[in-house]
Amino acid sequence: MRDVFVLGAGGHGKVVIATLKALGYHVATVLDDDEKLWGTKVSGITVAGPMDVVREYKNPSAVIAVGVNETRRKIARRIEGVDWISAVHPSAIVDPSVRIGPGTVVFAGAVVQPDSVLGSHAIINTGATVDHDCHIGNFVHVAPGCNLAGAVTLKEGSFMGIGSRAVPDVTVGAWTTVGAGATIVYDLPGGITAVGTPARPAR
Ligand SMILES: CC(C)(COP(=O)(O)OP(=O)(O)OC[C@H]1O[C@@H](n2cnc3c(N)ncnc32)[C@H](O)[C@@H]1OP(=O)(O)O)[C@@H](O)C(=O)NCCC(=O)NCCS
Repeated sequence: MRDVFVLGAGGHGKVVIATLKALGYHVATVLDDDEKLWGTKVSGITVAGPMDVVREYKNPSAVIAVGVNETRRKIARRIEGVDWISAVHPSAIVDPSVRIGPGTVVFAGAVVQPDSVLGSHAIINTGATVDHDCHIGNFVHVAPGCNLAGAVTLKEGSFMGIGSRAVPDVTVGAWTTVGAGATIVYDLPGGITAVGTPARPAR
């Protein structure tokens, strides 16, 4: 059984821990930069200190368990020398042709279809579906229950809110936020927030 550190003690951390446990990993320690959490427990595991503590270990394996894309990126840049593992819940269906980058998690009930690519430190959350030939960039978060049709591209750091959808072949620009329940029917530029059906920039 391999020991894995979980960096992040919030609700998303709980789901990462559950995913790792389902895969047979041993989560020995949870770390979080919020000192109010130190000494508390998450899913029965003690929060032992700030995230940088992981660097005191030799060749540690870890997952950044923070749902906010920009925060995940900052942590990944700050903390080097870690084996960022990817974790696919046993109940998720991920086609063998799918490439998955380091630090990426795929939660329970998600489906990822052939020839899609998942970048690093991405999140395919509970029950989300990613159809064939999608390109999911680094630090992307696809929230629970999202549905991406074939050949959708989500550029780095973009966020698909809960239950949002995208028709085939559309692209969401880098660091764009798509609101809960939105439907993307044409390309969205980077750095905006878009809501509704069809998804349009929020005022
Ligand atoms: C889109 C979103 C990011 C906007 O958040 P925000 O910047 O705090 O915006 P506000 O809540 O102040 O809302 C601003 C306006 O947009 C509207 N709006 C917000 N979210 C919306 C949505 N998903 N669909 C349609 N309209 C929405 C609000 O009604 C409000 O309209 P008004 O100005 O006419 O009253 C957020 O509402 C959202 O959908 N987040 C998704 C969260 C999620 O899925 N999390 C999953 C975690 S696993």
